[in-house]
Amino acid sequence: MEALASKHVAVRQQALRSIHQAMPAALVKYAQPFIEAQAVPETRTLIDLMANSTEYYSRRALRGIVLKLASGQLDPALTLDAVAAAEQSSDHRVKEFLASYQESKDSEDPLSPFQETLQGGDPAQGKIVFETSVAAQCTLCHRVSQQGSEVGPALTTIGEKTPRYLLESLVAPGAVVAPGYGFTAVTTHDGETVAGTLMAETADHTTLQLPTGETRVFDRAHIAARTPEMSSMPPMGALMDRFELRDLLAYLQTLK
Ligand code: HEC
Repeated sequence: MEALASKHVAVRQQALRSIHQAMPAALVKYAQPFIEAQAVPETRTLIDLMANSTEYYSRRALRGIVLKLASGQLDPALTLDAVAAAEQSSDHRVKEFLASYQESKDSEDPLSPFQETLQGGDPAQGKIVFETSVAAQCTLCHRVSQQGSEVGPALTTIGEKTPRYLLESLVAPGAVVAPGYGFTAVTTHDGETVAGTLMAETADHTTLQLPTGETRVFDRAHIAARTPEMSSMPPMGALMDRFELRDLLAYLQTLK
């Protein structure tokens, strides 16, 4: 039944593309019910078609969608699509609405440039990115269940974390480093410096594993300085586009 429903969606998306091609001026008339209902897959297709259209009603409809975005009335699953289309558009009203949406975001938050990827991803597409992206190479370092590598932590139950935690892990891996995977250097009050992997840190003790395999436990009262942990996970913001990131986040959330 679900397969049938998604087939119908694909047929409707194709129909909208054909209408756009054959009679661009009629697109919005056919599209209005989907836009009003904010039907996600169909509206995505429409936003994409409208982004590059110079046709009068398409431009107006895109303005309407970006205005909804700016006033917080757009389905969050459509946020990234609307933002990407508005970025491409040369319509000055669209640009104004986009600017007011951007201003409404928390500029102090390092994750805010990626905020649109938190909702609306397709987990099946995300699985493909995880398993096959040549740029991202997730499976080079991670495993899900039995498959993959042990360089990074297993992601078998990573979906129990919040979407924000997952996004941060992907675009700012140094911010929170999974225990046992961060590289750091400790300098004691005696002037000794030791570098290794941070295994644990409590109020009283810091435990490092040295490259030799030896474990050293430091009394925190004896530590003069410790460098911030470094993650060996590459930041993904530059390695994939926001649509891939959105799908990947949706996939990671299914791992429970
Ligand atoms: C070069 C190796 C490497 C690659 C490639 C890599 N990672 Fe990582 N990843 C790590 C390491 C090491 C850590 C642990 C340190 C940290 O938390 O930053 C980590 C941490 C994570 C975490 C947080 C895990 C936790 O338990 O907190 C997530 C989620 C994650 N990676 C997902 C991915 C995804 C998805 C990809 C592909 C897009 C990827 N990683 C590619 C090495 C890698």
